[in-house]
Amino acid sequence: MCGIVGIVGRTPVAPLIVDALKRLEYRGYDSAGVATIEKGRLDRRRAEGKLVNLERRIGEEPLDGLIGIGHTRWATHGVPNETNAHPHFSKDVAIVHNGIIENFAELRAGLLADGYEFTSQTDTEVVAHMVSREMDRGADPEQAAFRTLQQLEGAFALAIMFRGDDDLIIGARNGPPLAVGHGDGEMFLGSDAIALAPFTNAITYLEDGDWAVVRRNELKIHDMTGAEVQRKRQQSIGTSFLVDKGNYRHFMEKEIYEQPEVISHTLAHYLDFTTGAAKQIEMPFDFAKIDRLAISACGTAYLAGLVGKYWFERLARLPVDIDIASEFRYREMPLSKESAALFISQSGETADTLASLRYCKQEGLPIASIVNVRESTIARESNGVFPTLAGPEIGVASTKAFTCQLSVLASLAVKAAADRGKVTPQEQAGLIRQLSEAPKYANQVLKLSDQIEKLARELAHVKHMLYLGRDTNFPLAMEGALKLKEISYIHAEGYAAGELKHGPIALIDETMPVVVIAPHDRIFEKTVSNMQEVAARGGKIILITDRKGAEQATVQTLETIVVPDVPEIITPIVYALPVQMLAYYTAVFMGTDVDQPRNLAKSVTVE
Ligand code: G6P
Repeated sequence: MCGIVGIVGRTPVAPLIVDALKRLEYRGYDSAGVATIEKGRLDRRRAEGKLVNLERRIGEEPLDGLIGIGHTRWATHGVPNETNAHPHFSKDVAIVHNGIIENFAELRAGLLADGYEFTSQTDTEVVAHMVSREMDRGADPEQAAFRTLQQLEGAFALAIMFRGDDDLIIGARNGPPLAVGHGDGEMFLGSDAIALAPFTNAITYLEDGDWAVVRRNELKIHDMTGAEVQRKRQQSIGTSFLVDKGNYRHFMEKEIYEQPEVISHTLAHYLDFTTGAAKQIEMPFDFAKIDRLAISACGTAYLAGLVGKYWFERLARLPVDIDIASEFRYREMPLSKESAALFISQSGETADTLASLRYCKQEGLPIASIVNVRESTIARESNGVFPTLAGPEIGVASTKAFTCQLSVLASLAVKAAADRGKVTPQEQAGLIRQLSEAPKYANQVLKLSDQIEKLARELAHVKHMLYLGRDTNFPLAMEGALKLKEISYIHAEGYAAGELKHGPIALIDETMPVVVIAPHDRIFEKTVSNMQEVAARGGKIILITDRKGAEQATVQTLETIVVPDVPEIITPIVYALPVQMLAYYTAVFMGTDVDQPRNLAKSVTVE
């Protein structure tokens, strides 16, 4: 999931590359590096850890040169140290790589037999040596790159630079995204258009199997047969400013606080609050004509999809199959021709989600996606796109993208219900009125920050936590546990409250806080029984509920967080906030790296 950059420029490129890498750090931050060609010599600076370390390193020992490549790494092959940091060199070749070369062990054995020596444990160095070997055999840079690419298996994006030619970078894409930015007498390569936004908004996206010969005044793109191909040059809508934290301590905090606004934008995109009807949007299929909807996604987006299942089935009587994309893609599930497929992804680049999309496409299903990045691969390969209007999400732990995904799913479920004749126009208008109140309630929940922060101080000492919920609060319980573990490193599990007695109850003792998400709904009493079971075993309960729930919960709690009374359809959206805030403040007290938690990356473009 690394981020890669290349610039064939007019001014020294190292500072520009570092600047672009800052916008790609969400893709990984285990190490970073830049290489340039200066006076006919390949040179590089690399540093373990975050980009600031590389910046410091370049500050101590600057890098000159008008051409260069850069990398920010999420480690796959080899530990995240400086030796394994990109760019990797082999004689006259320098290379940066995002993705995985699956046949690297076999290729490496061949190179070792041919006398090539390895200095790193990465799969990338294999590619550098392969290009070198082709050149040793007499190939020019373009031929060497092409011949190498033909031997690689896996998903990868590459940028390759050659010591003998300071007007050439070769970029290649097989899976992970790669964009070429057109400048005035300069040319750029980057893992996404946002990385290149300060330099240019004229972008050409490479397609799968493309490789590009990038020079200051020329771009030539070839496919895997070697034939030259034409790809559209388009205006990127990426924002050029590096989104900053404003007065917030972390991006995650800022993104939590942005939610009332972005939820409101997202809902307004789909729903007409004046007429009380779903807006006419371009649909890749007709909700009235399909008999099933297959949803797949990863991580938090998957949990949003799970909430969506409850909505589609309850409101629109539309059966939903929901899968974790990494399972779906290999499950060989029979798909009815009358069904449609829906993929959910903040980044629009998640490898498993994309592979599932392609599987469904091959099966002939109409493809829709809910994405936050409009120019992403998943968006481009879908027949119809439902955007979330969350704006750039920088914190690795997803917050505002999740509630915007929920907002889109709720809107689509209402539309599906109307299209399938399962609600009257009056009922539709009622649901839309209720949804329109979500931003207001989300705002009220943000005011609970003092209470949640105080509680988080106590939680910062615990080792394990359990989250329980029923109905749409079950996926939310899993999301709460996911948020907590990814940013605070406290072990947490999310369970359907009714499953408590089938296992997790064995874990409960006085050291185990249990977060119960339970608005006062038609199954509230059932959840109260589960709380009794926890209390009887000394478990400490943190109850997130509404006023009525707080009054009627007959159990002693460690803390009761009372959110406003909200209509059922918006509970998952509103209750997501206290759950996110609890994880956030706990992580702050733990002193972890909230925006860039260890071992994770924002966009997962490998399997
Ligand atoms: C990573 C991120 C999560 C995200 C998941 C799916 O694990 O850390 O926040 O939910 O990928 O990403 P996507 O971009 O497809 O929503």
